Amino acid sequence: MRRGSILQLVGLGVLFGGLATLVAVLIPWLPPVASKQRDRIDFVFWFTTGICIAVFALVAAVIAYSLLKFRVQPDDDSDGPPIHGHTGVEIVWTAVPAILVTAISVVSSIVLVQNENVPKNHLDVAVTARQFAWTFTYPDQDGLTSAQLRLPVDRTVKLHLRALDVIHSFWVPEFGQKQDAVPGQDTTLVITPTKVGTYPVICTELCGLGHALMRTSAIVMQPAAFQTWLRDQKNAAAAPPAEAGKAVFTSNGCASCHTLEDAGATGTAGPDLDKLPAYAKQAGKPLEDFVRESIVDPNAYVQSGYPKNVMPAFATLPKDQLDSLVDYLVKSSTGGGS
Ligand code: CUA
Repeated sequence: MRRGSILQLVGLGVLFGGLATLVAVLIPWLPPVASKQRDRIDFVFWFTTGICIAVFALVAAVIAYSLLKFRVQPDDDSDGPPIHGHTGVEIVWTAVPAILVTAISVVSSIVLVQNENVPKNHLDVAVTARQFAWTFTYPDQDGLTSAQLRLPVDRTVKLHLRALDVIHSFWVPEFGQKQDAVPGQDTTLVITPTKVGTYPVICTELCGLGHALMRTSAIVMQPAAFQTWLRDQKNAAAAPPAEAGKAVFTSNGCASCHTLEDAGATGTAGPDLDKLPAYAKQAGKPLEDFVRESIVDPNAYVQSGYPKNVMPAFATLPKDQLDSLVDYLVKSSTGGGS
């Protein structure tokens, strides 16, 4: 090959590599980074992307060069030269990709092992997935339960996932990993949040009619603010019945689907709970019985205009919590709220 031809090939390679790099770097393909694990995963992404760009630049340059240089003239009807392969080239195009793919798998394995590493002073949180809501329980805090995942920044948390009905999947894009919640199986996910903020928790496994509604928030807080929140939650749970009912309402995620003025809830996916007395009349049941039944067995009576099988059955709610929730809903919907 002449020196000029090599320079042309290299020029084309730099051009295509440069274009591919711009596409990779200028477009924000990934959500912001908010965990250590996500940082490592992004490193694997960029490592792989770098290899892809190099391979793309090489292939595109050779194709473009061949198109420009070896184009057949319109009046040329002769056969091409007979070629019987090239052992040297074949060894190279087998060995180089094998080395690259091995490098990717080694880097990925190291990151996977690092991402599963749990330090001794970690926080445990039990995640319960059901059609169609998430609840988060803090076993070290007397089983404190919340509808949002609250986490202190820079402390590793180990999530213990379980599903009560079908397969769901836990995903916070900014944390970078997904983990299935499978009935009858305990799965775990390790996260070390690195940035204070509020991020979406998304169910990423099609789990039924309400799958798209199965969302909540992961709230990463300063450690001091997290401790204050823990204390406030515990005080609320030990409060008089009306406030305890309100706390049950809030911590079980009711507000994401229902409107209830007293609790400042504005959800519209489910029936408006300020209209409970009217609904009970339509169902032909006493208000308190109607409210209790709708929580424990939501499909017994479904208000017209709302889909069946979307509201989760809270049959596992402890009796004292259920009682205070029913009490609270009856009082607040008839205008006697806290
Ligand atoms: Cu739960 Cu989709």
